[in-house]
Amino acid sequence: MLSDNLKVLLASTNSLSIKAQNFHWNVEGNNFPQYHDFFGNFYEEVYSAVDKIAEYIRTLDSYAPGSLTRYAELTIIEDQVKIPRPNLMFAELLSDNGKMIDLLNTCFVSAEEENKQGIANFIAERLDAHEKHGWMLRSILKNRE
Ligand SMILES: [Fe+2]
Repeated sequence: MLSDNLKVLLASTNSLSIKAQNFHWNVEGNNFPQYHDFFGNFYEEVYSAVDKIAEYIRTLDSYAPGSLTRYAELTIIEDQVKIPRPNLMFAELLSDNGKMIDLLNTCFVSAEEENKQGIANFIAERLDAHEKHGWMLRSILKNRE
């Protein structure tokens, strides 16, 4: 059901944004300015989708989850309570980003099945954004593993 999938998307988008913000704050190393800026742009871009997803859930006449307890239940993004080395931060976000793309594809299919073309269009834009995040993360990680 589209509204259920969007709830998972809302929780996962929030989780990913929080994780990238954690990395933005706590990353260290020679390239600190670039790392700090990259994670800053990443979390802000991901966070920019949160309110829109919640409001689409409301247009489907369902309630938008808005508590940390519900997000922890719903998210597909594993929480990170440690501060990994920079390369591991990038690798973890790349893996999470791939999970987001899979989830967005699931959401897109259910939006089309329920004939919600506006939501399908929004999901397609989120797919585009996450494909771009994936490109950047892969480029950062190239020859550095
Ligand atoms: Fe900041």
